[in-house]
Amino acid sequence: MGALKVAVLISGRGSNLQALIDAFGPQVADSPVQIVLVLSNRPAAQGLERAAKAGLKTEIVDHKAFASREDFDVAMDREIRAAGAELVVLAGFMRLLSEGFVNAWRDRMINIHPALLPAFPGLDTHRRALDAGVKLHGCTVHFVRHETDTGPVIAQAAVPVLPGDDEAALAARVLWAEHRLYPLALRLIAEGKVRVEGERAIVDDGAAADAVLINPPLP
Ligand code: GRF
Repeated sequence: MGALKVAVLISGRGSNLQALIDAFGPQVADSPVQIVLVLSNRPAAQGLERAAKAGLKTEIVDHKAFASREDFDVAMDREIRAAGAELVVLAGFMRLLSEGFVNAWRDRMINIHPALLPAFPGLDTHRRALDAGVKLHGCTVHFVRHETDTGPVIAQAAVPVLPGDDEAALAARVLWAEHRLYPLALRLIAEGKVRVEGERAIVDDGAAADAVLINPPLP
């Protein structure tokens, strides 16, 4: 079986893209994943430099150049298909997607969200987690549905919220987990270990009965 061809969509910093490059980039022998395209809606996205440095194909589809969301999505769709991608990987992509685009890539488009969904969909997740006083926070990789930050959950990572945390400290702890979770989830998909049943993703090898993170910890 050949490597799974993916297009990574970004809007900015691209640290998750970097984690995917480190795990599956051209330098990796026998990678189960091939990044065939890095597409940004923002010409200045730092992630574009990371992609170019790794020798990956990049495209800019600037949303500002399109009259409607639908037109923008059609242009993106064209680039993604031209590159031969089989899966779309959203990595800090900050545009809402039209229903047509989401449906066209149903169960073939994933996103990483910086919270333990269904808690804290949307923006400012770390601020809201701190305000809510939760003791565990984290990140989620999920298939994309039309409603923002919904869809079958593939994998999650939990981190503790510590008493002295501010938004930056908590964000850094979650981001560290994101950089480990996204390559793991993508590998599971590439290896054919993830399937969607109804609105749930079933993951072979996905269960660790002894995995427990308790915060505050047991004495
Ligand atoms: C990450 O926190 C991701 O969960 C969210 O947007 C951020 C992107 O960061 N969707 P980066 O561009 O990957 O560094």
